[in-house]
Amino acid sequence: MMPAFEEQGDGPVVVLLHGFPFDRSMWSGLAGYLAGSYRVILPDLRGFGRSPVVGGPATMEAMAGDVIALLDHLGVTGPVAVGGLSMGGYVALALAVAHPDRVGALLLCNTRAGADTPEAAARREESARSVEATGQPGALIDGMIPKLFAPRTAQERPEVVAEIESVMRSAAPAAIAAALRGMAARPDRTPDLPGIGVPALVIAGEEDAIVPVDEARAMAEALPRGEFQLVAGVGHLAPIEAPEVVHPAVKSFLDGRFAAV
Ligand code: MLT
Repeated sequence: MMPAFEEQGDGPVVVLLHGFPFDRSMWSGLAGYLAGSYRVILPDLRGFGRSPVVGGPATMEAMAGDVIALLDHLGVTGPVAVGGLSMGGYVALALAVAHPDRVGALLLCNTRAGADTPEAAARREESARSVEATGQPGALIDGMIPKLFAPRTAQERPEVVAEIESVMRSAAPAAIAAALRGMAARPDRTPDLPGIGVPALVIAGEEDAIVPVDEARAMAEALPRGEFQLVAGVGHLAPIEAPEVVHPAVKSFLDGRFAAV
């Protein structure tokens, strides 16, 4: 499937993959920040934003294949930097494993290498069924919102919370169900980490209620060229809760470890 996308800037290619259930707009701040030095490509993962819903579970491998189809379509055949937040990070890891020749650096934000526990996978299936039966992801989204942001973000940047909430509420129920099933089916990537030899920046939120800091740190340590950055006072959406910290960190990582080689 060819995803909808937008791009900005010129230079070495950076692809940024959004989390669940967002769309490419969550990366607009970082894309604008990098566009002076990089060609930043923002796909909508299958079913989200303006990309079509595809039947069956939206596996991380299928979404990674969509990103490759997009790069092929754009004639980008050399290694690119791939960044992903949360579900986007699961897709970035799938891509690095399946297409190592296409990945020159990884940016892994608020994400993990591990699979779902059986209980978590069962909860996702339950949510997928309820979203399909009602056509209403409202209850799922109501349950997610308080877990996404650190209290400080909710107090100091209410407009950021409102914007993300409106993106989530406009996601298609079928896309939500497909992605829930795809995430539930994802394999444990921990055994793959030692074989992923590209520079990798792992960014964790100190107050992330979805990905514990220790899990993110362990992933960085298992990646041969992993670097770890903990962002204080933010939750699950570090790049949009603390752009003043994350944007320069990402740029200096890309400048030093990707563009310079
Ligand atoms: C995300 O932000 O992409 C999701 O919270 C990931 C997940 O549910 O595992």
